[in-house]
Amino acid sequence: MKRICCIGAGYVGGPTMAVLAKHCPEYRIEVVDTNSERIAAWKTDDLPIYEPGLLDIVKQVRGRNLFFYEDVEGHIDEADIIFVSVNTPTKTFGHGAGRAADVQFCEQTARMIAKCSTKPKIIVEKSTVPVRTAEAMEAILQANDKGVTFEIISSPEFLAEGTAIRDLEEPNRVLIGGRPTESGRRAIQEVLDIFAHWVPKERILTVDLWSSELAKLTANAFLAQRVSSVNAISALCERTGANITEVASAVGMDDRIGRKFLRASVGFGGSCFQKDILNLAYLCEYHGLPEVAAYWQQVVELNEWQKKRFVRTMLKALFNTLAGKRVAMLGFAFKPGTSDTRCSPAITIAKLLIDEHAELSITDPKALENARKDLPDARSCTFTPDPYEATRGAHAIALVTGWPEYSELDFERVFQDMEKPAFIFDGCDLLDHEALVKIGFHVFRVGAPPIVPS
Ligand code: UDX
Ligand code: ADP
Repeated sequence: MKRICCIGAGYVGGPTMAVLAKHCPEYRIEVVDTNSERIAAWKTDDLPIYEPGLLDIVKQVRGRNLFFYEDVEGHIDEADIIFVSVNTPTKTFGHGAGRAADVQFCEQTARMIAKCSTKPKIIVEKSTVPVRTAEAMEAILQANDKGVTFEIISSPEFLAEGTAIRDLEEPNRVLIGGRPTESGRRAIQEVLDIFAHWVPKERILTVDLWSSELAKLTANAFLAQRVSSVNAISALCERTGANITEVASAVGMDDRIGRKFLRASVGFGGSCFQKDILNLAYLCEYHGLPEVAAYWQQVVELNEWQKKRFVRTMLKALFNTLAGKRVAMLGFAFKPGTSDTRCSPAITIAKLLIDEHAELSITDPKALENARKDLPDARSCTFTPDPYEATRGAHAIALVTGWPEYSELDFERVFQDMEKPAFIFDGCDLLDHEALVKIGFHVFRVGAPPIVPS
């Protein structure tokens, strides 16, 4: 039986290995992580991450050919192939703080692999990394004193949270980047053979290492750029009386542009977009391309502005003071379908509201545990899974995550229990605005002028 070890049991490593185990029963797959709580949770039916469809697959393969361990070093040497799925957050300290990616976990992993290995291995970079991280990992790996050889492959993961299982089961492409040497080509083939178990061959793209790394950053930058573009126009719609949903659907019908990622919002969130663009901009600057860096940096700046703009709209509508007012935040995850709150626009919005001395009641079907951690010092916040409790006594509702269940709420009941005038700020264009106005709400939308009861 061939053995695969995956270092990092997070949003990428966990689902990816579960789907791989399902389709490749002849591989024994061991997922390791230094976070013992996370590993313990993977062994239960209360998984450490929420992802639709994931638990079903984990139940099929756990104990068959998928195993979880907290002892990282103990499972490295037996593996023929090691997937590295550790986190690469934006650096918070030193040179490049707030912009460059913090690759310390990648380096730690490379050192650990070098230390524990007595036989050759293929190392597959799954985490999104700055271009040429593979080169650094390779240098550390090859410097081992046992003469062990390693082949580095870059195969960035394109899954989106909330749809991870579908994205893994039916990826629109799998990218495998490697060295153009004889052993590099063999390693590419070996990784390709794994994915070919379920991915049609024409969707598996083999490229060079650096193109693979840069393709991931570029894909995320392009997607985020679309969101910032549509959010920029949303501000103009609010001023001119146009409606961003109508503008976006007209624009998206041009198949050179396409319909996806044209939904105006309170801003994009998630662990990748901001990090990858900052990283791309940093990389451009490093390589003496300040104009290119500034071009991409603006996508992030527009996104920050969009979040602030949402709070400014609230402040203005609520008679220029939020002090002591209760604001119900519907949603906290960075998008529906996930418990993840990393870089969620909700965090910035909550902090800005707290700065205005608003009292927040936060609700989310899956992300409350993370929300509590994101706002550790917020004494003026309460957290409840019940949206009716969150909105009771509120002056305003800020809908910041488009969970479909929020469109099913009994808004007559919500309205009865709120302070008047009752305001709704729909940051996700989710609700039936005309119906809300009929009930008596003052409705504010992203990308369209407000509508109020006559
Ligand atoms: C993204 C990429 O889609 C994925 O390919 C990559 O591997 C990781 O980064 P993810 O962050 O999970 O995935 O979510 P995504 O669906 O891309 O949404 C990112 C953010 O953009 C969310 O906050 C979402 O609400 C926002 N968004 C998305 C919009 O505001 N408008 C849109 O039209 C689409
Ligand atoms: P992603 O969204 O990229 O999967 P996560 O933060 O969800 O990011 O997961 C990354 C995981 O990698 C975390 O659970 C973290 O504990 C783990 N990790 C980081 N560094 C190491 C390391 N050196 N050895 C083992 N696991 C690590």
